[in-house]
Amino acid sequence: MKNKKLLAVLAALAVFVVAYLGFTSLSGTKGNSQATNSEHKTIGVLQFVTHESLDEIYRGIEQGLADEGYQKGDNLTINFMNAEADQSQIQKMSEKLVADKNAALIGIATPAAQGLANATKDIPVIMGAVTDPVGANLVTDLKKPGGNITGVSDATPVADTVELIQAITPDAKTIGVLYSSSEDNSLSQVEAFTEAAERADYTVVPYAVPSTNEIATTVTAMLPKVDAVWTPTDNTIASAFPTVISAAKEAKKPVYTSVETMVEEGGIASVTLSQFDLGVATGKMVAAVLNGADPAKTPVEIFSEGTIVVNKKVAEELGLTIPASLLEKATTIIE
Ligand code: TRP
Repeated sequence: MKNKKLLAVLAALAVFVVAYLGFTSLSGTKGNSQATNSEHKTIGVLQFVTHESLDEIYRGIEQGLADEGYQKGDNLTINFMNAEADQSQIQKMSEKLVADKNAALIGIATPAAQGLANATKDIPVIMGAVTDPVGANLVTDLKKPGGNITGVSDATPVADTVELIQAITPDAKTIGVLYSSSEDNSLSQVEAFTEAAERADYTVVPYAVPSTNEIATTVTAMLPKVDAVWTPTDNTIASAFPTVISAAKEAKKPVYTSVETMVEEGGIASVTLSQFDLGVATGKMVAAVLNGADPAKTPVEIFSEGTIVVNKKVAEELGLTIPASLLEKATTIIE
């Protein structure tokens, strides 16, 4: 009798212990999966074209998403597409990404974001490194976007760039501005740069190319007429930059750029924003939207604080001296 009672108590205890263990391990799993976002999400990315800076922005986006618990291949699927600067592909790919019911869409560079914006008014569109979201007709108010679009903007520090040109090429008087007439992101940068350069008494001559095909002839016509060249964060110029650099090298004219990768490719100097950091910020914003944030109420994040990059090798080839004070301030010196 006594033993039976004891057995019953032990059995009840065992059931209780097993149940308790089961419960804690279950709640343990639940806790973990919440931290890494248990729900699987699928997003779409449209990159405008291949060039170093946009590739780096994309790597940053994956990092920003991972930082917020969305790991590609684990709880996140990314449908990645690259339009390679083809307008009809932008439209086709945008429509496909919308039809495939992605939870959010990312447009890397202005023309890609514009393509996505034209394709949907419902699915959230996050702009990755769009210079002038208002001028590109993507949002009407940077602080209160209002629709399904928000994102990260890269504002080129043009006034600092003019100071850089003054320091490295004090004898230059005429600056040729090379950009693509089809990119809204370039138009606003050219306007801002021209204003700042003219205030510093430069003569600024714009050289707009309709597409990559006209770059070589335009550069050949421009180089004899200018003392230095400046180019904004223009995707068309960036993707064909070696053509620009080889002509400039031959004509012995310095090319100022707006991004580090183009200084590495042979530009003389730049005040640049970290492309990777732009991507990380974009990825984090996508994660916030996946977690329920409303794009209409998410202000556009603006990056405008640049760092100095100089190419000492190119300066030496051109017989130019980079002032010691500038070398001290530079974050990257290419020897
Ligand atoms: N800001 C550009 C746009 O709005 C995209 C871009 C980012 C870019 N980084 C760049 C273009 C560097 C050329 C070089 O489209």
